[in-house]
Amino acid sequence: MRLKNIPRARGVIAESRYVEHAPEERKGQWRAVFGNDHPLHLEIGTGKGRFIIQMAQLHPGINYIGIEKYSSVLLRGVEMQEELQLPNVRFIRGDAELICAYFDVHEIDRIYLNFSDPWPKKRTASRRLPSHRFLARYNVILQNEGQIEFKTDNRDLFDFAVEEVPGSSFRIDAITYDLHADPVMGAGNVMTEYEEKFSAKGNKINKYILKKTADARAHLCTPEEISACIPKIPLANSDNIL
Ligand SMILES: C[S@@+](CC[C@H](N)C(=O)[O-])C[C@H]1O[C@@H](n2cnc3c(N)ncnc32)[C@H](O)[C@@H]1O
Repeated sequence: MRLKNIPRARGVIAESRYVEHAPEERKGQWRAVFGNDHPLHLEIGTGKGRFIIQMAQLHPGINYIGIEKYSSVLLRGVEMQEELQLPNVRFIRGDAELICAYFDVHEIDRIYLNFSDPWPKKRTASRRLPSHRFLARYNVILQNEGQIEFKTDNRDLFDFAVEEVPGSSFRIDAITYDLHADPVMGAGNVMTEYEEKFSAKGNKINKYILKKTADARAHLCTPEEISACIPKIPLANSDNIL
């Protein structure tokens, strides 16, 4: 994906009190950040932030954290939040590769993956956010009853995601290949920017909900699993526009 560099983005983000600038220092402390013990929902690859801002307005009893890799993309969400000042929204300008550095074991209640980048080449498949490499990380940070909600119009990516589930710590709890026509899974659906754009073109939206298996719930993550999910890359080094 080619992104437009917006020079003022880094400055706006650096000054915003709604962006956690050292998320690794908040690890295990996110409830204190919000000043309550409400559930924590995370959107990874939050883009311009519209989804979590709307979700936060609809569900004031849930705290939302949006992670986005690029300042120029996140800018719009941060500006919206500066206007709205919702108490239950924070952003991280950071890389999903580092979620185990940002969040403690079982700290998160739900993860949203919305229209994740497809990384269509086979050699970059492990970068796909619903890959088993990432599922292992989500298992570490999600509490036992936690779930993952993934939606995309990209059928190849969705089929890949479904194939990654067996052998992971998760099972598919619900699935649809046409979210907007599904009266159960489509109820209360909040559309993302990409969802609006691609469904307007007639693309069907696929969605699954994953829950931890009984085995995963019984298993406490070992220190080795936890350190294995933190890659050895510099924490604040992923904002270079391609
Ligand atoms: C296709 S866009 C979808 C944006 C939004 N979720 C939506 O549905 O409108 C994917 C977003 O994920 C972000 N992203 C991709 N890989 C990421 C990673 N490893 N960590 C954080 N964000 C990532 C991209 O920068 C991009 O903004």
